[in-house]
Amino acid sequence: MRGVVLAGGKATRLRPLTKVTNKHLLPIYDRPLIYYPLQAMARAGVQDVLLITNPEHAGHFIQLLGSGREFGLKLAYELQEEAGGLAQAVSLAESFVGSERMLVLLGDNIFTHDLRPAVERFSSQASGAVIFGVEMEHPEQYGVIEMDGERVVGIEEKPTAPKSKLIQTGIYMYDTAVWSQLRGISPSARGELEITDLNNIYVDAGTMRCETLEGYWIDAGTSHDELLAANVAVAELRRAGRI
Ligand code: G1P
Repeated sequence: MRGVVLAGGKATRLRPLTKVTNKHLLPIYDRPLIYYPLQAMARAGVQDVLLITNPEHAGHFIQLLGSGREFGLKLAYELQEEAGGLAQAVSLAESFVGSERMLVLLGDNIFTHDLRPAVERFSSQASGAVIFGVEMEHPEQYGVIEMDGERVVGIEEKPTAPKSKLIQTGIYMYDTAVWSQLRGISPSARGELEITDLNNIYVDAGTMRCETLEGYWIDAGTSHDELLAANVAVAELRRAGRI
């Protein structure tokens, strides 16, 4: 299993904090945001990790993270040169991941859940993909998952009328079919290749599984309020030694 962390984008929702820097370098309590997904990768037992970011800030990530040794990781870097969306960023990992499977983490997601058992389950699964769901009070700002019992029926990106409170977090696992699936998706109305469109290909094929994410989870990069909430919550979690 190989790891991919997505840390690009312009983060216009967090301006002016992100006018001259990348949102994944912003502080969350006592460390930069990007530390948390990297720690989660190490905790999951995935050591070979590709960090994908934009050219303007790549030098800062290399200065901050170096080889990844501090995290127990072997880090590689890739540049996303255009704002092509999360799925376009994932496609840049093809040569790095090769014939292995991959765990993708969005660089602004902070969580306490230990992914190691899920990684092990996925490694022994025949094929397919996995998303990790949590229930949110305001699901409309996320990808909303519709389930029928254990079966994922569909995922809708930021719907105005969400069909459930269950949302997909920024944690995804894909088999090797992902590269051909990625070639089959087209840009959305906002001109980007969406991770939700990629996931829905697996949903339509009946090979998408949804696992429940336990513990604390936040997408710290959604708004100034989420960023503040993440700082407050992570301070508590760090003091309690839970993250
Ligand atoms: C992205 C995905 C969305 C998902 C969210 C989780 O949204 O598109 O489906 O629920 O991450 O963090 P974004 O935060 O890029 O708006």
